[in-house]
This record gives sequence, C-alpha cells and structure tokens, in this order.
Amino acid sequence: MSTIPRVVAHRGASAVDPEHTLAAYRRAIEYGADGLECDVRLTADGHLVCVHDRTIERTSNGTGVVSKLTLAELERYDWGSWKNADDVQPVLTLETLLATVRDAGRPVELAVETKHPTKYAGLVERRLVEALDRFGWARPRLGTESPVRVMSFSWLSLRRMRGLAPGLRTVLLMDKIPLRFRDGTLPGGVSYAGPSLAIVTANPEYVDRAHKHGHQVHVWTVNAENDVRHCRDIGVDAVISDHPDMALRVLREE
Ligand code: G3P
Ligand code: CA
Repeated sequence: MSTIPRVVAHRGASAVDPEHTLAAYRRAIEYGADGLECDVRLTADGHLVCVHDRTIERTSNGTGVVSKLTLAELERYDWGSWKNADDVQPVLTLETLLATVRDAGRPVELAVETKHPTKYAGLVERRLVEALDRFGWARPRLGTESPVRVMSFSWLSLRRMRGLAPGLRTVLLMDKIPLRFRDGTLPGGVSYAGPSLAIVTANPEYVDRAHKHGHQVHVWTVNAENDVRHCRDIGVDAVISDHPDMALRVLREE
C-alpha cells in the first residue's frame, strides 16, 4: 500500500488567490492543506517578507528590487489586484505568516524557502532563525518537532541553517539530481529531498532510493490530477501544489 502524500500549498492557495498573501494562506488552511510553502526575501531594513521574485513588479503595483526597499515602502503597494481585480492585499511578512500558522487551530506545517541565500553572508538565515525563535520553533525541545522546515536550492544556505539551528529539518530543492546523489543520498545534514516533478516523473525509482537512506521526498510543483496520483503511487511524502484543494480531493478519492 502506498502512503498518502501530505499536501503543501505552494505560495498559499495560489491558483485562486494572489500568491504569498494572507488570503492565499488562509484559504489553504481552510481547504485543509497539511502545510504551506513560502519564499522569503530580506528587505533593505532587514525584515523577511514573503515574496518570490527579486523584483516586485509581477506581484504588486510597485516597482523595484525587494532588497533595496524598506518594509514601509513595500507596505505602500497593493499585492493582490494584479491577480484578481479589487482584491487589495498588503505585503506579507514572515512574522505574520508564522503567527497565522500558530493560530491555525490545528497543526499546519510551514516550508520556508530561502531565495537569495548566498548574498548578505548568511543574514537571511540569521533573521529566519531569530523569527522562528520568537515562536519557539527554531530549537524544538527533545521529543518535539518544529512545524517549520527550511528549503533551498542552495546547500550552502541549508548548511548555514544547520549550524544555526541543528534541530530544524531542511529540504534540498533540486531541478536536477547531481550524479553523486542519484543513489538517494543527500549532502551531509540535509533532512529531506525536494526534487522537481520532472525528476520523479522521469525517475520514479528515486523516491525509494531516498527512502532507503531515510530521507522523505517532497515534490514540487504538482498541479495536475494525474501527477498527484503518480506521486502517491511512487510513495512521495509531500506534494507541493498551487491547487491544494485539487490535490486533497484526488488523494481522498481512493
Ligand atoms: O517548493 C519549491 C518550489 O517553490 C521551488 O520553485 O520557483 O516556485 O520557488 P519556486
Ligand atoms: Ca518556492
């Protein structure tokens, strides 16, 4: 019998709501998503905000580069109506998202992706750990697990996280698997594998290999019903989807 993957809402319920807004995350929680995914970037004045792109043009009515704007400047813009007319949304800080997870009324996982991890010499990771510490989530007590895991395409970023908060789980995102890790191993200290959907479609056996080495497999971005079924059938542990409602429905079908 295959395991049922957990469903993680990619940028919130981002097929319906503007990505990375509180509305998108609240809707994902209402849908019953097991987890939420967000990207974080540092503002010019050192706040972590949930924004995917380096620049703000695509997802707000402002212009500029996130790292060159202060939080107060980002707060002047509307982050919703680019997606749905009249849906005015504020920029979302990581702090607000963490509070939303805490107040969800049920356990909800949060996968935080560090987006520009090699710049600023580790400042993103330090700020992230400080934020998680305010919620008691960076250093889970023995026998407990933090609801938060940190994901990155950068092993350097995950290594920094491991140094700062050794108890936190980490996910190495991969759009191709380096030759030396095709056997299902991961770089030292990384908890889970985060291959793209294309990887596990072409190489379904990768999931078993990672499991043999004790690593969960979290796959992104799984937006079609057949791909959700495929992930379930090959034993994927979590699917990251813009359509968490669809993924939950498909997985509950059988
Ligand atoms: O969940 C991983 C996935 O989000 C990585 O790609 O570009 O959507 O951040 P991207
Ligand atoms: Ca992401």
